[in-house]
Amino acid sequence: MRAAVVTAFDAPPRFSEFPDPVAHGADETVVEVLAAGLHPRVRSQADGSHYTSTDELPLVPGIDAVVRDPRGRIRYAVLDDTTLGTMAERTVIDLRRSVVLPSGIDPVRIAAAMNPAMSSWVALRRRVDFPRRQRVLVLGATGSAGRMAIQVAKRFGAKQVIAAGRDRALLAELDVDRAVTFDELAGAADVDVVVDYVWGEPAARAMVDLLTARKDRGAPLTWIQIGSVAGPTAPIPSAALRSARLSIVGSGIGSVPGRDFVAELPKLAAAVAKGDFDVRARAVALADVEQAWAEARKTRDRLVVVP
Ligand SMILES: NC(=O)c1ccc[n+]([C@@H]2O[C@H](COP(=O)([O-])OP(=O)(O)OC[C@H]3O[C@@H](n4cnc5c(N)ncnc54)[C@H](OP(=O)(O)O)[C@@H]3O)[C@@H](O)[C@H]2O)c1
Repeated sequence: MRAAVVTAFDAPPRFSEFPDPVAHGADETVVEVLAAGLHPRVRSQADGSHYTSTDELPLVPGIDAVVRDPRGRIRYAVLDDTTLGTMAERTVIDLRRSVVLPSGIDPVRIAAAMNPAMSSWVALRRRVDFPRRQRVLVLGATGSAGRMAIQVAKRFGAKQVIAAGRDRALLAELDVDRAVTFDELAGAADVDVVVDYVWGEPAARAMVDLLTARKDRGAPLTWIQIGSVAGPTAPIPSAALRSARLSIVGSGIGSVPGRDFVAELPKLAAAVAKGDFDVRARAVALADVEQAWAEARKTRDRLVVVP
């Protein structure tokens, strides 16, 4: 079959031949791939930098997809760590890690939205207590996951959603109560939850700015670490943890068990399929995967590879 194939971690995948997939065990099945999102996690899988990387090559990248199963049903599926990902004509899925989608859905839209939307959906459902009427700050709000986090927080009843980012023009596009740059965070200090896609130095600075500007340092602040676009480590001063009622938690595979992710899939998939989320998606042909890798760094749309 044809697939996007990574043969070296310092080069993008190439469109080439790859052995046909074979299913093992009762829960596995070979499916036809309809659309697979080119998420940041897929880029880090393909360049070997993700924390789950096993250094095994060659590999077909792709961590999730909208697929057609042998009975003709359309499913959204999430893959385990594997060298046969979803950027191929066919792949193998574990039926238990998939959800049947309603008929008539747009595979590209679903493939673009599920991974970024799932990040905040699972974080707010499974990693923190998130009653209604909370005030939420999204750090890194202009990316795909940040834009989804704004919508997810509102859907879950947030009283106020504040977006923080580095680009004023992009921030101005967002439908939020307030938008601030990283330098203006002191004015957005009185929130209950921070959804952080940034980490690194900017998040550490943001944390200090926020904590020192809070009206009531005894009021709980939960910082949910989800992405690390600005760096894998953040130099957090010890005083930050002592001087305010701050809790830091992470949300991702591992801190949220796989079964909990799967349990959230049907409701999120139904909401995305229904059109409840504003999704910026663009299809690219599997044959053009090499160019798509370069394009993904520049575009604001989530690229979706279509075999
Ligand atoms: N844990 C999970 O479950 C989970 C799930 C999905 C995604 N993620 C992670 O979440 C992160 C964001 O994903 P995404 O899909 O939103 O990616 P994306 O669409 O590529 O967006 C990246 C965002 O990061 C910002 N950014 C990049 N470099 C920055 C820097 N040096 N300082 C400050 N901001 C910076 C960008 O700001 P500009 O708009 O100004 O460029 C943009 O808002 C990634 O690390 C991804 O792996 C985690």
